[in-house]
Parts: sequence; C-alpha cells; structure tokens
Amino acid sequence: MSSLHDPRAHFILVPLVAQGHAIPMLDMARLLAERGARVSFITTPVNAARIEAIIDQVKESHLPIQFVILPFACAKAGLPDGCESFDLLPSIEYTKAMFEGTRVLQEPLELFLRELRPKPSCLIADMCNPWTMEVARKLRIPRIVFHGPSCFYLLCVHNMAMHGIFERVPDEFEPFLVPDLPCRVEVNKAQALGFATGPEWANFMQEMVVAESTADGIVINSYDDLEPWHIRSYQKAKGKKKVWSIGPLCLCNKDVTRKATRGNKASMDEHIITKWLETMEPGSVIYVNFGSSARTRPSQLIEIGCGLQASNRPFVWVIKGVELTPEIENWLSGGFEESTSSRGLIIRGWAPQMVILSHPAVGGFLTHCGWNSILESISAGVPMMTWPQFSDQFLNEKLIVDELRIGVAVGVKVPMSHVTDDGRVMVQREDVEKAVSRLMDGGENGEDRRMRVRELQEKAMKAMEGGGSSYVNMTRLIQYIMEHTNKEL
Ligand SMILES: *[C@@H]1O[C@H](CO)[C@@H](O)[C@H](O)[C@H]1NC(C)=O
Repeated sequence: MSSLHDPRAHFILVPLVAQGHAIPMLDMARLLAERGARVSFITTPVNAARIEAIIDQVKESHLPIQFVILPFACAKAGLPDGCESFDLLPSIEYTKAMFEGTRVLQEPLELFLRELRPKPSCLIADMCNPWTMEVARKLRIPRIVFHGPSCFYLLCVHNMAMHGIFERVPDEFEPFLVPDLPCRVEVNKAQALGFATGPEWANFMQEMVVAESTADGIVINSYDDLEPWHIRSYQKAKGKKKVWSIGPLCLCNKDVTRKATRGNKASMDEHIITKWLETMEPGSVIYVNFGSSARTRPSQLIEIGCGLQASNRPFVWVIKGVELTPEIENWLSGGFEESTSSRGLIIRGWAPQMVILSHPAVGGFLTHCGWNSILESISAGVPMMTWPQFSDQFLNEKLIVDELRIGVAVGVKVPMSHVTDDGRVMVQREDVEKAVSRLMDGGENGEDRRMRVRELQEKAMKAMEGGGSSYVNMTRLIQYIMEHTNKEL
C-alpha cells in the first residue's frame, strides 16, 4: 500500500476496545483517508469480526485504510477468554481489569510499528489507552489524544481538578457547583465521575492525566457552534497544546449503508425497520436505546416498557442481548409485545441507530446520554429524553437539557454503579410516561426544542462541509502533523 517515498501523512488510530469509543474513531479513519492521509486502524480479532461490514465497505471504497488485527491476550490481562470489548465482560467487576488490561496491546503494537517504512507520522490514541505514551516515545512518533466526550464535560472535569474539588468534597453525594463556568452547574462526585471514584482507580486516572499532558495535541468530537464557549475555554485551559474539534464525526456517514453498519452487525435488517417506520406519522415515534455498555435490570426494563405502553405513542425499543433474560423474554411474550404490536417495534440486540434517527417518523430519542448518541440525535435533528447512567453522561445531560435546551430529563439522580441491588427501580413507569408526553407533545416548549435542535443540526452539517470549522480543523491537524513528523527512518 505504501512505498518508502509515500508523501502522505500516515495516522495510526488506537481506539479503546469499547464500541462507544471505536465508532467515532472509525469515522475519524474515514475522514482522514478522504482528506488524503493514510490510516492504520488498530483492532483485535473479536472487534474486527464485529465491524466486518465496515471493513468490506472500506475495501470497496479503496480508501487508504488498513485494519491491523493485533492479538489481545485476555488471560494475561486477567480477563476471560474472548473478552475483547467492554460489553462482553461477564460483570461490572471486571471493568478495572479491562481498562488496565488493554496494555497487553502495547507489545504487539510496538512490534507492528517498528516494521513500518516509512515511519508513521502520528499516533492518535483514545484517552483511555495511556500506555500508548510509551510506544510513541520509544518510536519517536507524535501522539495525539482523542477525547470521546463533550467538550463541556472535559472542561468541567478540568475545572473541578484545578480547584481540588475531588479532594475537598469527601461525600460522593454532596452537591457542589462546577467552578469557572458562565452558568450554574450543580453535580456531585458520583454523577461527575461515574464509576471511577474509588482509591483503586487513582493509579489509572493518574496515568491518563500524564498521557494527556505529554501528548502533542488533543482531538475532540464536537464542533464550534455547538459549544463555542466550552471549546474556547478548554483550548485556553490547555495552553500551548492544540485542541482540534473535528466533529460530529458521525456525519461522515452519508449514505444508508454506511449509517446501517456502525459498531456492530445490526440484529434486525434496516429495511424491515424502515418499512415499519414508513407506516407511522412523521415525528410521532419515540426511539429508545441505552447504548452498548450499561445493563438495565429486568425490573427497570419492565417499568420502561409499561411507561411506553401507557404513553400511547409509537416506539422503537432496543433491548440488548445481555438484558434478554428468561424473565424479560417471558414478560415480553406474555402480553406486552402483543398488546403493543400495532405501534411498537422491539429490536433485540444491536440497532442501526443512525438509520432510525434519520427517519422522518422519529420525533424523540430516549437516550443514556452517551456523547455519540447525542451527536447522532443532533445530526438527525431529533430532541432527546435524557436518562444518564455513568461517566460523562450526567454532565452531558445538563448540556442538553439546561444549556442547549433540546431535551427533557427523565429524572435519574444516581449513577448505575451506585444503585443498590435491592430490586428498587430508578425511574417509575409514570415518570417515563410523563417525560415521553412532555417531549413529544406539541406545545410551545416542544416546538422550541425541535426548532433549536434543527438549527444545531444545520450548523453541524455546515461545520463538516468544506470551509466549515471542523473541516478546517481537520485540515490544520493534518498540516500540523506533516510539519512535525520526523521524516528520517
Ligand atoms: C478550529 O477552528 C476554529 C474555527 O475556525 C478556530 O478558531 C480554531 O483555532 C481551530 N483550532 C485549531 C487547533 O486549529
């Protein structure tokens, strides 16, 4: 694919082995390749099998992207065989082992990179892969950190750390204001940090901080017109280190086939889903999907289902494979599916989310507030109902509901990791029903939300087009790397 005299920049992309982290990096790979760079995308056998359709498309498109499948030594990482992605972990207890275990890729990656001639120009690694720091240093390759979350979240975390909030506020549930923001944002530690609050995480967190501070730059999946103040402040906070905002990356998927093949094999053919959506009124359907990693308990799933049923509105509800316990299957087939069959579509497994969100029949999205989902919703002009679960999601909710005012909150206060195992549900069916009607009802507020999200959609498309802010940032990123690459072998 390359010769010694290849003048193109060659980017090595190292995503975290989690679907929510790999999806935007796959988009990034395409964008870089479409802009004339070469890309090597690092993956593992199990993850490569999941994105087979994407790999095939890329081959057909003749984009200069190479998929590099490195062995993932699960046993060495203390993980069960085949656990090469976060959603495959047998239980939440393995989370830390997984974060720390991705280091097993360090050696194979280094071996692969050493063989490359000419030397690659740049390594872009997920912030959760701090071990890439050593690889880049040894091989003397510029390294850029990719941050998956919103810039608002990144800025909040930065400000909280600068003010020592995590040490100062001992109680996980004590509310405090995020410092140095133009608006009032109240959170607690449990919400702001999600799962990684305990002292056992300190080491890994510190590694990520060091890896970021020694990086040559930062890439974020956002765009100027979405959060201008936060992006500017974050850039200021990072001083000399450049911050390129090149999103929403999902907008690189322009046609239906590409929209349909994101992340994993869809469990239901997109044509069946589209056909079903065709039978519904424009803007009438609520789409429900909580992303790839968090697992909803059976009792809570049933409350969601009953809330949707009571709302009397059409819905597409995605239930993950791991959540389909015998209890849930019995409940679904014991009347629920039948009684809602005229207006409800249940997808068991992985859904082609961008295809669904872009369909005119869809008028609202009940989301866990993962940043990819939010960007996909905005890119489709669909307002949201927010149900955060952990990590950046509670702060993302504040951005969506309070600042951008393109969503309504369902009312979740406690992250999943802090919910006690006593069978209590976090959100009652009445609350689901109420939030659905607030979001989907006409009314002035509803109309305003829809108008605002469509404005942001238009601005997102502009940002990604030639001359737009994200397009220009991508140009500058590639230029920067071309100028800073050490050309010698
Ligand atoms: C990204 O684009 C914006 C708007 O054009 C610009 O102000 C900013 O400096 C760019 N960022 C970098 C790192 O070049």
